[in-house]
Amino acid sequence: MDHFNYHGGELWAEDVPLARIAAEVGTPVYVYSAATLTRHFGLFRQALDWTEHLVCFAVKANSNLAVLKLLGDLGAGMDVVSGGEYARARAAGVPGERIVFSGVGKTLAEMRQAIEGGIRQVNIESEPEMRALSDLAAGMGAEVPVAIRVNPDVDAKTHEKIATGKSENKFGIPIAKARQVYAEAASLPGLRVVGVDVHIGSQLTDLEPYRAAYAKVAELTRALRADGHVISRLDLGGGLGIPYRRDNNAPPLPIEYGQVIRETVGDLGCEIEIEPGRNIVGNAGVLLSRVIWLKEGEGRDFLIVDAAMNDLLRPAMYGAHHDIVPVVEPELGAALRPVDVVGPVCESGDTFQKAAELPPLGAGDLVAFRSAGAYGAVMASEYNSRPLVPEVLVRGDQFAVIRARPTFEEMLARDSIPEWL
Ligand code: LLP
Repeated sequence: MDHFNYHGGELWAEDVPLARIAAEVGTPVYVYSAATLTRHFGLFRQALDWTEHLVCFAVKANSNLAVLKLLGDLGAGMDVVSGGEYARARAAGVPGERIVFSGVGKTLAEMRQAIEGGIRQVNIESEPEMRALSDLAAGMGAEVPVAIRVNPDVDAKTHEKIATGKSENKFGIPIAKARQVYAEAASLPGLRVVGVDVHIGSQLTDLEPYRAAYAKVAELTRALRADGHVISRLDLGGGLGIPYRRDNNAPPLPIEYGQVIRETVGDLGCEIEIEPGRNIVGNAGVLLSRVIWLKEGEGRDFLIVDAAMNDLLRPAMYGAHHDIVPVVEPELGAALRPVDVVGPVCESGDTFQKAAELPPLGAGDLVAFRSAGAYGAVMASEYNSRPLVPEVLVRGDQFAVIRARPTFEEMLARDSIPEWL
């Protein structure tokens, strides 16, 4: 459930008509709903209310400071994967003791930044990283809480580009080798082993891969405890999918996911951390765009909109589907016609949807790409020198620009021409 609904024949975000935002801020623009973010975060908390837990929002899904502040103020922790994300989480007011640092290629500078700024836990992804972190922390006189990310070799049954828990993926340490790596971790200075970390992929629509992975984590936790390690936390990653289409095939709910966690690792007495990104923010955002032209082609028509692959990369990159809806509600029984919805970028891949069934639309009409709050703005670029897409947050009947569209002057000012040229 989200807060983008038709009222009086027009699509609104909470109590604000999207057309008003388009008129005041321009298009393309991402629009987020604070009520939806709050609701989705609450669902994960509720799903884990049977145990001590921390829901760490995966900052990579949407790293706008206002979004992070909203979630941080609700008590969310943050899962970060770069120095930049760490800086954002801190700037949004989230204390280091609620930030976990994941990622397969942390640099020494990023590790130092986290140690200096304070960190709840570093999720170690490889032995060289583990040894480097130990040297660094020991040299700084620090002791860093660590979990080791294990790769359970489970098929997450999702898009191959976002599956991470198979042995052929670059992530984590093979679970079969974990005891040996934990033994080394325990012997190294500057590290304090606190838990086990796992993340098997994103946009999971089936709970069985989770069940299989978490059962392996439970077995490993028992073995590690028998080896003498204190395992007090389990970081179970993110990945719960969202409905991208409004049909009857909705993925499992957070409450059902929480139940799988309880059934697989609930008896271990560990604090549970999870790292959902998409499920919290995905359906809390739309990309609002205006039709530039309707171009009638041979055998097919093209609706050319002012959003493009540089603003929302997912369709071009993963063949992902985003529902496209007109902002003016179509009349009941209105005739639909198939159009290819495309952006203005000079690539055929800049196609959002082929043969989308839409009511007649023309130049100046507004459309919304739904489910665009996660991996939308964060993956945007300025390809074709199109200004980085702005973002707006709505709460009730108020809205604010939370990232402004840069002017051409600002864009140009970031480059410099050497004096010898
Ligand atoms: N934790 C770790 C270690 C991750 O790598 C990820 C996502 C998450 C948590 C959050 O997963 P989520 O709950 O959002 O599914 N750009 C792709 C998605 C990439 C996901 C990468 N890792 C997309 O647009 O579908």
